[in-house]
Amino acid sequence: MKDLQTKRLVLRKITMNDLEEIHENWATDKITNEYLTFPCHKTKDQTKKMIDFILKKYEKDGYSWCIELKENHQVIGIINGETSYKYKCIEVGYSISSKYFNKGYVTEALQSIIHYFFVDCDFSIVEAIIPSKNKASRRVAEKCNMSKEAVLKNRYRNKMNNEINDLYIYSIFKEDYR
Ligand SMILES: CC(C)(COP(=O)(O)OP(=O)(O)OC[C@H]1O[C@@H](n2cnc3c(N)ncnc32)[C@H](O)[C@@H]1OP(=O)(O)O)[C@@H](O)C(=O)NCCC(=O)NCCS
Repeated sequence: MKDLQTKRLVLRKITMNDLEEIHENWATDKITNEYLTFPCHKTKDQTKKMIDFILKKYEKDGYSWCIELKENHQVIGIINGETSYKYKCIEVGYSISSKYFNKGYVTEALQSIIHYFFVDCDFSIVEAIIPSKNKASRRVAEKCNMSKEAVLKNRYRNKMNNEINDLYIYSIFKEDYR
């Protein structure tokens, strides 16, 4: 996994030095947490354990970048890829502090890692599995030229209101990437 740069962002390996900012800016953000699989962190120790887990994954094949703003070096979120080498497919996930929503940051980050996965790593498919109600995430995928490929009906329960919704699989194939 290599560090990446975009116009406004540095995408780089997470280190334990990022604990404070990841905890304050991201892991404790209730708005950001709605669509994440883990509960909002209450203690720094929870965030430390999560970083430990990511650091362990780096020893094998983990793809997890922190999203750092060039202008003030704040770490505002995380973007990652989970591999399924059998199909040369990688599933992406992304989230940032709600203070920074709707400024185009995650689109910029996702475009950069899609390029990396296709050009540098030779994956064939990049996919994202997105709850149907998460319009911001769907829009990010669309802005990165990913298309809605499949609907998994009633496979998602929103942890805030217990509503059951569909999951959408968005994907882009290497042969369609330019
Ligand atoms: C989803 C998320 C990563 C988007 O990050 P971001 O940096 O704000 O995304 P961008 O600014 O690049 O793009 C957001 C797009 O969604 C649109 N959008 C945001 N909220 C929306 C809503 N409720 N309905 C429709 N569109 C919406 C924005 O207008 C923007 O589109 P535009 O550029 O065409 O105007 C961010 O909202 C987040 O971290 N959410 C919490 C975690 C999460 O849901 N992660 C994804 C799990 S599947």
